[in-house]
Amino acid sequence: MNSPFLDALQCRNQGRPPVWLMRQAGRYMPEYRALRERHSLWQLFHQPELAAEITLQPVNLLGVDAAILFSDILVIAEVFGLQVVFPEGAPPRIVPQVVSAEALIPREVAQTLKYVQETIKILKPHLKIPLIGFCGAPFTLATYMTPDPHGWIARDREGFHRFLDKVSDALIEYLLMQVRAGVEAIQIFDSWANLLPPTDCIEFSHRYLKKICTAMRVTNIPVILFSRNASQHPALLADLGPSAISFDWNREIHLLRKEVPGHIAVQGNLDPEFLQNASKEQVVERTTALVESMRGEGGFILNLGHGVLPKTPVENVRAFIRCAQDLY
Ligand code: CP3
Repeated sequence: MNSPFLDALQCRNQGRPPVWLMRQAGRYMPEYRALRERHSLWQLFHQPELAAEITLQPVNLLGVDAAILFSDILVIAEVFGLQVVFPEGAPPRIVPQVVSAEALIPREVAQTLKYVQETIKILKPHLKIPLIGFCGAPFTLATYMTPDPHGWIARDREGFHRFLDKVSDALIEYLLMQVRAGVEAIQIFDSWANLLPPTDCIEFSHRYLKKICTAMRVTNIPVILFSRNASQHPALLADLGPSAISFDWNREIHLLRKEVPGHIAVQGNLDPEFLQNASKEQVVERTTALVESMRGEGGFILNLGHGVLPKTPVENVRAFIRCAQDLY
């Protein structure tokens, strides 16, 4: 497959930068909302035909350079016999909540999450661009699976480590299943690592990100690390051994590039609030400056600093994508 996205992940892209958006399939798209009116979120995640259709919406309508599997980081909880609930208009919940590592009894991942494997199998023949698989980071998952992760750390550090270890093992198995089914890249989402103070962040978040990155190395499939507030500690994240780091918008990406070793790619980093609220002209102006600041850089992937927000005008998303694709 000839792909600027995969080339950039190896830091050897020669032409225009590849572009995709976190949450590129979602509520800002009328086509997504139309499907969503007829199906519950649970159905969209669990029915492979529907999940595949949604994955393809931004690919066919917007022309991004990579597809991301339509699923959710929380489905891994099903491996432990837990239920993921997506209430209308409220954040998702996992029931029952987990209060001890010993309560986590894993089932076979390939069996429990077979519907994800089926979604990937349906998608592959429809895609001329790479498919990104993903998982949540262990600590981020803990914030949904346990009632009080901070209290747990305070009471019983070892027990919390056993919990994170079990979750990590399931995640590794899950990612390997996605790779066997055909994904060409992986992104790990650590959306809540920033809730931990720095030393706890290393002990309870980074340690497990490293474990996952290391386990994925045998596959040769590139791993992109999204860790909220990544721009605060690029060198620490680089030490975990990802292929790429996805950055927020709090620092300029050309400066961050200099703080990340040359063999690790960088992804980012337009502010999603800006994409939602600015005029199309402002989007073009700022994205052009961003892309130009990275001209000649072989390891750059244009993206937002976090997911697309639901009220973002589709025209702004189109303008953002065109900036990467038309500038060269
Ligand atoms: O297009 C893509 O990026 C792929 C699909 C995807 C979803 N969730 C679909 C989804 C991905 C990669 C995720 C990851 C995810 N899920 C994260 C990590 C990324 C991040 O944004 O920090 C987290 C923390 C979750 C958990 C989750 N799922 C929350 C907190 C919510 C509700 C809040 C929200 O954004 O609406 C969800 C629901 C969810 N997952 C939606 C989508 C498109 C909303 C769908 C809807 O209401 O129609």
